[in-house]
Amino acid sequence: TLIRREDYCAPAFWIRTVDLTFDLDPAKTLVTSKMQLERNAAVAHGALRLHGEELNVLRVLINGESVSFRQEGHELIIDNVPDADFALEIRNTCAPDKNTALSGLYTSGGSFFTQCEAEGFRRITYFLDRPDVMAIYTVLLRADKAKFPVLLSNGNLLDSGDLDNGRHFAKWHDPFPKPSYLFALVAGDLVAREQRVRTRAGKDHLLQVFVRRGDLEKTEHAMNSLIASIVWDEARFGLPLDLERFMVVGVSDFNMGAMENKGLNIFNTSALLASPATATDADFARIESIVAHEYFHNWTGNRVTCRDWFQLSLKEGLTVFRDQEFSMDMAGGASARAVCRIQDVRALRASQFPEDSGAMAHPVRPDTFVEINNFYTPTVYEKGSEVVRMYQTLVGRAGFEKGLKLYFERHDGQAVTCDDFAAAIAAANPGSALSTRLDNFKRWYSQAGTPRVQARGVYDAAAQTYTLTLKQHNPATPGQEHKLPQVIPVALGLLSAEGQALPLQLQGEDQAAGLERVIVLDEAEQSFVFTNLASQPVPSLLRGFSAPVVLDDGLSDADLLVLLQHDADAFNRWEASQRLALNRILAAVRSGSALQLDSAFIEAMRAVLRHPELDAAFKDLALTLPGEGYIAEQLEVVDPQAIHAAVEAARSQLAQALREDWIEAFEANQIQGGYTPDPVSSGKRALANLALSMLVLDAARSGDTVWPGRAYQRFKDAGNMTERLGALSALVNAHAELAEPALARFHELFKDDALVIDKWFALQGRTPELDGKSFARVKQLTQHPDFTLKNPNRARSLISSLCMFNPAAFHRADAAGYVFWAEQVLALDAINPQIASRLARAMDRWTTLAQPYRSAALEAIRRVAAKPDLSSDVREVIDRALESD
Ligand code: ARG
Ligand code: ZN
Repeated sequence: TLIRREDYCAPAFWIRTVDLTFDLDPAKTLVTSKMQLERNAAVAHGALRLHGEELNVLRVLINGESVSFRQEGHELIIDNVPDADFALEIRNTCAPDKNTALSGLYTSGGSFFTQCEAEGFRRITYFLDRPDVMAIYTVLLRADKAKFPVLLSNGNLLDSGDLDNGRHFAKWHDPFPKPSYLFALVAGDLVAREQRVRTRAGKDHLLQVFVRRGDLEKTEHAMNSLIASIVWDEARFGLPLDLERFMVVGVSDFNMGAMENKGLNIFNTSALLASPATATDADFARIESIVAHEYFHNWTGNRVTCRDWFQLSLKEGLTVFRDQEFSMDMAGGASARAVCRIQDVRALRASQFPEDSGAMAHPVRPDTFVEINNFYTPTVYEKGSEVVRMYQTLVGRAGFEKGLKLYFERHDGQAVTCDDFAAAIAAANPGSALSTRLDNFKRWYSQAGTPRVQARGVYDAAAQTYTLTLKQHNPATPGQEHKLPQVIPVALGLLSAEGQALPLQLQGEDQAAGLERVIVLDEAEQSFVFTNLASQPVPSLLRGFSAPVVLDDGLSDADLLVLLQHDADAFNRWEASQRLALNRILAAVRSGSALQLDSAFIEAMRAVLRHPELDAAFKDLALTLPGEGYIAEQLEVVDPQAIHAAVEAARSQLAQALREDWIEAFEANQIQGGYTPDPVSSGKRALANLALSMLVLDAARSGDTVWPGRAYQRFKDAGNMTERLGALSALVNAHAELAEPALARFHELFKDDALVIDKWFALQGRTPELDGKSFARVKQLTQHPDFTLKNPNRARSLISSLCMFNPAAFHRADAAGYVFWAEQVLALDAINPQIASRLARAMDRWTTLAQPYRSAALEAIRRVAAKPDLSSDVREVIDRALESD
């Protein structure tokens, strides 16, 4: 059924306290829940309706007396409820071992874990499982002591001890009222890395990272990241750790990255465990940011939570913004910060932009959903973060900090809405560029789609003025034909043709206001007149990606070259490199002719590669061609094979033309000494890996054997996973002969480390051409003894890699890729609907495909749709794909 935001009603009852007792048994766990309830006086009298799924109810008591109840669908209904406050006791069982959906209480590797967001608590016991019902929890866990020596839940440990029959218990109490989605328990044979810290406020805290025996040495980075997060949140936003004990737990079967349960964060091991030998630089960075993200939720999400699930971006957009700011502050200097920003924008464009123009397009605050789990999306998270960033751009950094402070003063301990957040930031900054346009700004929450901004400048030599005209247009998205103009902050600078930054003076001002400023577009069309300009400037617009829009600035290659060489904004320098490449690739794809790189482009890329001052990390990003998905987004009709061919042609021409420079870059970026994942070292490794892949690629053309040999050697001898995987991937992408023994050797080396074997599957799933047999190979790998659909990381590593990140192998004229997709979606749906539904989204953009792909895709979608007992998760995605026709 479709849930609508406008239908929100406050709950008829409040649950003030919950006492939970768990008798943990993998096959059948007994749950006893004793709650104190009261009627919500603001809501008309009615029955008590509790949520519950896949539960076996044993008894229901009110004030100690058995009461009659009925069950309707996923609700347990009690019609006769006292008017006064009352005690409700429910006993039920659930089956953790059978819970392959990994929502609610489940087992993984013989231990118990929970995942309750969004609606998993109702799979543990009957409850008002909605975020605006906040209660104080006391939790008693009982289990076999030998099998489950560690018993954890939220908050503080009150008591623990032994029981009869080899069992033991632990009693936990969380002093903060919380919604049920933040409940967690863990029971198993785990070990912990511990660290005591004293915060600024002078309080002592115990930090613990729990993992399986044997993984302890891979938790150092997570612990360091946690400590850094605690320090940062206190320093930047004045938000301290509010619990005596803060626990983090790793689990290998987990649907998402991690979960912010109060005081007991639970992590996918892929987002927690790292050692130089087994994790790449990208893994280290991802772990740092996810550990921070979950920790930051303690304030933005837990202390102030969401009134209803439509407000999800209230906590997610804000917390992603905070983790992005944290990563930038951790990175250090201006250049490293810019690299973070470029990576975030690249990810946004690769995942959120296609979502915003596809079948599942939805506003940052959706209006309807069938299955809330389908809305943990790049739009809610990453676009939501861009919206929060625009608040900061409009009110300034200090203004934003003031706004956040007011938000907590007003709403600590409450379940609120995105409107409440907007109101607090605006109220703390009266008269600001935000507050004067707040209603218009909030269209970012209600209108789906990526706004298109067109910018054109006219220089008047006689008047020495430059008139910049900006127009905006947001294309139609499902259910939203016509859009209104949005508030678009455009950070900009002007450069002379020689690349000098020019003072910015708007008509009517007595003097220039610096070399960079933010102008605000809030109408369909507006002009801005800059004065005192002696010659025609080159505009550098949307610096730092100041708004999540698609910009058409009409700049020529010559202008882009000026920006690439001279722009003070590193983001726009990178953007110029991408635009130069994109123009060439799109021209080839559109004309259907073979791509031939011109010397102007090649020399520009050579200049970047040879540049004496640019960081290696920046060079790597500038010399990496735009992704095939992003290129597809620029075209009305998409032929994935044509795009792939153009990108491959560009890559091999760059490999050949810059051969000497790649050698130079490879040699110059070797790191002596031990491994550290800092931005400078990881930038060097990234550039060395890119150079190596180019050299191996060029060897395939020239017949050179030296570089493939060196790559193999490096693969064998590498002291860390970043270099090892880089060398392996260079071989797998361009040298089938050496790829085989290297892949076999890699598997042999790491066969006992699941997270590394995931990389082994993922590399093969993502490789466009492995001896022309990528697709056949993936199909074959589904039969590999290490492969299973039951573990989400493993399923994603192979299946999603092919269907979502390997367009050239997936989109086949014989339709076999789509047939495979349909089979896997159906197989996964029977095990884990959330994971199935994510894979289903590989077809979001099927309507833009050229023939024969388009018809074949539709047929595959219809095959999935024809399955009668599809989960609501997959059903929603598939229905919307069909509707987008
Ligand atoms: N709140 C978690 C995070 O952002 C994600 C949990 C999502 N869970 C889900 N079933 N969709 O870190
Ligand atoms: Zn989150």
